[in-house]
Amino acid sequence: MNEELASNTDYCYYLAEEKAGHYFKVLHKQLIEKHYVPALTKDIQSWKLNHIHYPSLLSFFPRRKKKPVSKEYRSYIQYLNYTSKLDDYLERSISYIYMRDLGKALTSPNTESRVRNVVEQLKKNLLLDNGDKIEPFSMASLYKMAKKNGVESTMIWAIEKLKNVSAIIPKGMDVVHAQRKILKIIAGVVMNAIEEMEAGISLEERTNKLTKAIKIGYYYGLTYPFIDDLLDANILSDHEAKDYSNLIRTTLKEGNVPEFSEWKGKNKQLIQSIHSELKEAFLYIKANQKEESLEAFLQQSYVFFCAQEIDRLKHLSYEHYTNEELYIPVILKSSASRQIVRSLISAPKDGDFDKQTFCYGIYNQLADDFADLFDDWEEGAVTPYTYYMKHHHRRNDLINPFELYWTVIFYLIHHVYQSDKKTCNVILDRAINGLKRFKEKKGNKRYKEVMDLFASEIPAFNRLIQTMVQKADNVDFFDKLLRDQMVVTLKNEQKDQKEFFHTIKSVQSQINISLLIAKSERAFSSDDAIVDGANYSLNGNGKRIRPIIAWCMGVNEYGLDETEILPLVRSLEYMHTASLIFDDLPSQDNASIRRGRLTLHEVYNTAIAELTGLFLTQKAIEEQTNLSHFDPQTVLSLIRYTAKVTGDMCKGQAMDLESKGKQLTLNQLNTICFYKTGIGFEASLIMPAILADAKETEIAALKKFAYHAGIAFQIKDDLLDVEGDKGLLGKATGKDVENNHSTFASILGMEGARIEMWEHYCLALEALQEMSWKTKFLKHLLDYLVHRKK
Ligand code: IPE
Ligand code: IPE
Ligand code: MG
Ligand code: MG
Ligand code: MG
Repeated sequence: MNEELASNTDYCYYLAEEKAGHYFKVLHKQLIEKHYVPALTKDIQSWKLNHIHYPSLLSFFPRRKKKPVSKEYRSYIQYLNYTSKLDDYLERSISYIYMRDLGKALTSPNTESRVRNVVEQLKKNLLLDNGDKIEPFSMASLYKMAKKNGVESTMIWAIEKLKNVSAIIPKGMDVVHAQRKILKIIAGVVMNAIEEMEAGISLEERTNKLTKAIKIGYYYGLTYPFIDDLLDANILSDHEAKDYSNLIRTTLKEGNVPEFSEWKGKNKQLIQSIHSELKEAFLYIKANQKEESLEAFLQQSYVFFCAQEIDRLKHLSYEHYTNEELYIPVILKSSASRQIVRSLISAPKDGDFDKQTFCYGIYNQLADDFADLFDDWEEGAVTPYTYYMKHHHRRNDLINPFELYWTVIFYLIHHVYQSDKKTCNVILDRAINGLKRFKEKKGNKRYKEVMDLFASEIPAFNRLIQTMVQKADNVDFFDKLLRDQMVVTLKNEQKDQKEFFHTIKSVQSQINISLLIAKSERAFSSDDAIVDGANYSLNGNGKRIRPIIAWCMGVNEYGLDETEILPLVRSLEYMHTASLIFDDLPSQDNASIRRGRLTLHEVYNTAIAELTGLFLTQKAIEEQTNLSHFDPQTVLSLIRYTAKVTGDMCKGQAMDLESKGKQLTLNQLNTICFYKTGIGFEASLIMPAILADAKETEIAALKKFAYHAGIAFQIKDDLLDVEGDKGLLGKATGKDVENNHSTFASILGMEGARIEMWEHYCLALEALQEMSWKTKFLKHLLDYLVHRKK
């Protein structure tokens, strides 16, 4: 198809440009004739009746429910509900999404009933108080939502993909916005897919379609950070950016991804990673599309990409861009981006959709560019607003984008949607909301400056708008609330996660230097071999998770002294290292590599390994007896607990070995895992709690958390045994199959094991919600346990 397609794409671009040119002419003419001023004045006059409430007698009485200052998601929804505003709010929000994202006209009775349906469902869900305090947009909430719809595996896949992508995103680009955009695109594709489902669709078919939509959404979403944002950020050199653009252009023209071969420039590794992700994306999209829609997809993407590129290459200081040069790419990119989504899900051609999205795009783009005005200005990016700001004194032929914005609004209401009342209301809601948000974010002074610049030539109309911005209420939108909440959640997550890794890294290095065991003064040769053996095993690249947990909980959460609890920290790693020495023995898992080096029995012999294991468990107890700053009774109960833990771990290992080749039930698997692994995690949480004299209820909550976190950890270990990288892991992979072990992966399959891991992840999170104190560390610990690669 290549050559034919290539010339076709250029022709398509030409046609699209011509169509956009025509639309632009129509808008321009409207703008000059200023019909929009009287028409919209009239519209706003009637719109305001529902939005401006003059003080009544009642307002002398104190209000029962005040509008929350911060728009925290849950309390804001509650506020809307208490004040009986929730229905209107959802109705306007969903109607708007049907228009913008689904390209529907609100006039159709079918759309009307669907909107009503969605509003009812959504309201029910929003008000459902199941005690679930999981943050919206957290990975747990996405997982749970997916589970309700039977697509949890796909969501797990997407969550893991998102993690990987975040790791590739280079410094100088915003990870949070990359994640947000990808999630938003996934949501958009899923909505379109749901909208296209026939009424009596079977459950299986529905699951299939949702699965595909999530994957396609993710893959298409990747192009936002990896193509547009990357080229916008100043990361690539000029000539790298040119080569990269050509790579994209060739792919879209020829319908094939060129191989990544040579790369001249300092960002070779970055481009190579991106190339591999985008190639995977392209191949998936291609393989999952009908021939006709694939062609449409390639053409629309080409238009999208070229139009963006044209804008990107503009210079703010260049004085001679014509209005056409400024606006035609805006029309093209904004409409193509929405049309692509429809092609992606192979939706049948729909003339109304095409027309509506084509006309609609520029409205959305002008609203976005207005909101980003100052950021774009600082970056020197050319948008209709920044360009006007820079050149309007000298260029009185330049179209004022704010006036064009209202012209588009007028055109949409009266020419595209036939003066429909509801459409008019929703669009005006949105327009006034956009100005209000801008004013809130940038402050009155900057807002006024901007308005003085952009609205000075339409004084009467401007006064009317400004009165609305000041006085009109009930113009908020759910998607904006979601967006704000998502940014807050993701940003906090990112910040906390950075802190978490910083903490565990520094604690890890402190632990590493205090682990080694000094040789006894009464040194016989065998004594030396045991201490050498212990130090050899301790010296490998262990993660030190257990002592890190004890340290962070003890020092940071309970305020214990770090030198005072050092013996506890050491004892945990000694117990754990001993368990690994035993686990690797020929009589157990028969492993020859551990912590990136030969196992102890390989270096010495089985007898020395066994004795060293025993030595380390005793050393652990000895360390605990050195906890001299604590009450002796407390230390005794700690030792009692430890002795029991060691015993239970032995039982766990025995059960594990016993189960070889057996078809275990989920219950049995959980029990074994808890005994062999979970209990070690429990110990690292409970021991500092014992020293800190924590309350029984707290200890119970910690145990519950440890149970699920520990099992999640072992499931991840089982998964890594199958698909991990042995270089990173520092131990051989494939051991479980070799030993015919019954693991989560062998019993449930990889997909089943992953689901089970996420189930325990969610249950561990629930346990955290029962705790009244700071749980940030444990939350991030849990994330780390399930996402780790080693
Ligand atoms: C491995 O534990 C044994 C299991 C319980 C699965 P770790 O994965 O914590 O091993 P190290 O301490 O980092 O080597
Ligand atoms: C080990 O489980 C549990 C222990 C407490 C030692 P595994 O046998 O799966 O651990 P690895 O994979 O060898 O580290
Ligand atoms: Mg084992
Ligand atoms: Mg093992
Ligand atoms: Mg293992």
